[in-house]
Amino acid sequence: MAFKRVCRSLDLAEGGIIRFVPPEGRAIVVCRSEGEIFAMTDKCSHGNWSLSEGFLENCHLECVLHGSAFDLRTGWPDKLPATKPLEIYDIKIDDGDVFVDIDSGYIAKK
Ligand code: FES
Repeated sequence: MAFKRVCRSLDLAEGGIIRFVPPEGRAIVVCRSEGEIFAMTDKCSHGNWSLSEGFLENCHLECVLHGSAFDLRTGWPDKLPATKPLEIYDIKIDDGDVFVDIDSGYIAKK
């Protein structure tokens, strides 16, 4: 486990998207949607584009480049052209701060 602080929970409003790059890891996109906070690899599996520039709606993050949409709960795309899933990460809220476990990335079952 390697939880890293991302931001204050209050600074991540509903619909908010943050790109988090830990010094020793890959970029992670952290979002709040439908009241929950999610973390996923910040690299579209279609064309290597940052999803933190995307559109967020109903727990889905859409890539601005070609429109693939990823379910933040599973990391799986449910809109083409992407077909491969992204890793999702464990989150914890502690004393009003949002933390991501940067070692917890995994591919969820569809
Ligand atoms: Fe994201 Fe093509 S790079 S859909």
